[in-house]
Amino acid sequence: MGRITLDHIAKAYGSVEVLNDINLKIDDGELVVFVGPSGCGKSTLLRLIAGLDQPTAGDIRIDGAIVNRVPAADRGLAMVFQSYALYPHMTVRRNMAFGLENSHMPRKEIEARITEAARMLEIEAYLDRRPGQLSGGQRQRVAIGRAIVRNPTAFLLDEPLSNLDAELRVTMRAELASLHARLKTTMIYVTHDQVEAMTLADRIVVLRGGRIEQVDTPLNLFNKPENLFVAGFIGAPNMNFFPGQVEETLPDGLSVSFLDGQKTPVKAATNSGAAMGAVTLGVRPQHLHLAQDGEPQIPVQVRLVEALGAETVVHATASGGERVLAVLPGQPAIAKGDRIALSYRRDLLHAFDGDGMRLAGN
Ligand SMILES: Nc1ncnc2c1ncn2[C@@H]1O[C@H](COP(=O)(O)OP(=O)(O)OP(=O)(O)O)[C@@H](O)[C@H]1O
Ligand SMILES: [Mg+2]
Repeated sequence: MGRITLDHIAKAYGSVEVLNDINLKIDDGELVVFVGPSGCGKSTLLRLIAGLDQPTAGDIRIDGAIVNRVPAADRGLAMVFQSYALYPHMTVRRNMAFGLENSHMPRKEIEARITEAARMLEIEAYLDRRPGQLSGGQRQRVAIGRAIVRNPTAFLLDEPLSNLDAELRVTMRAELASLHARLKTTMIYVTHDQVEAMTLADRIVVLRGGRIEQVDTPLNLFNKPENLFVAGFIGAPNMNFFPGQVEETLPDGLSVSFLDGQKTPVKAATNSGAAMGAVTLGVRPQHLHLAQDGEPQIPVQVRLVEALGAETVVHATASGGERVLAVLPGQPAIAKGDRIALSYRRDLLHAFDGDGMRLAGN
């Protein structure tokens, strides 16, 4: 079992608060990804769970039992670091065996576990090499293999793929996904990479400044970000944000004006604090399209076109100087300097109140 519960966890280094009131329940077998800007506390939180550091306040439970005072080696968890941290003078086999030998596991059992892990990770051919004789991807697999042979309650992985080149990352990402599907062991995975987070996670935890901003499935975070920060953080390229002004209340929401002459209804509880103030409208670059007759038109001037083949990224400026980013499918005939009209689907707009919180109903 690998149920991990964080209960009001805080961590300070001296007077510097790094984590604040973190509450999280991770189910057995779940793959949970921590994301957030550099310095937000992802690694610190992982280290607290691993037992490599102590929380200043709060409880960490594994399968219901408080482990705050249990040393790292006795928590039954295996950590994989970005740096691999392999022993350079030992062969792959010895690297994988080392931790098990220290726990006095019988030789036969150690051999069996190494054989099984090596088969799973397709590193059988390298068992007698040293890490220096391996590629980055092979080293990464050895680091993961060393974690697997310990048969841990949960895997804790801190940016395990960030040293690899783009192509290898894609391969290893798929391998990790199928590994998790086979082992069904709880995994907590820290990454900077949006695609990794979206594709691997059962749930994503978005952290900012030592606090949890939102926890949800990848698609719920994408479709219903609870606040401006999550809306801007999840999804690439970033969501466009436009300041809006509430013009009037409607039976089930608000009428909001934005950009030059745009007006849209927005669903909201009309007694919400936003009732007559400023709001922010968000629209993802992929949710803008070239305007057809009869649709709302946002006139823009194109500043830059990035043709990626399958899609085209258009950087543009609206009439009030607002920057607009659109990702259009295919290869539309658009060039720098062109004046074009973009449009949007009202049901794909996101609306946030003056405090940056998602308006209810949207
Ligand atoms: N031993 C320490 N003493 C003081 N401050 C620390 C210590 N370790 C980490 N911090 C601070 O805690 C904050 C969180 O660090 P952490 O390494 O958890 O961030 P992170 O989210 O993993 O960032 P990154 O994405 O860059 O790896 C940072 O501001 C960091 O400077
Ligand atoms: Mg980190």
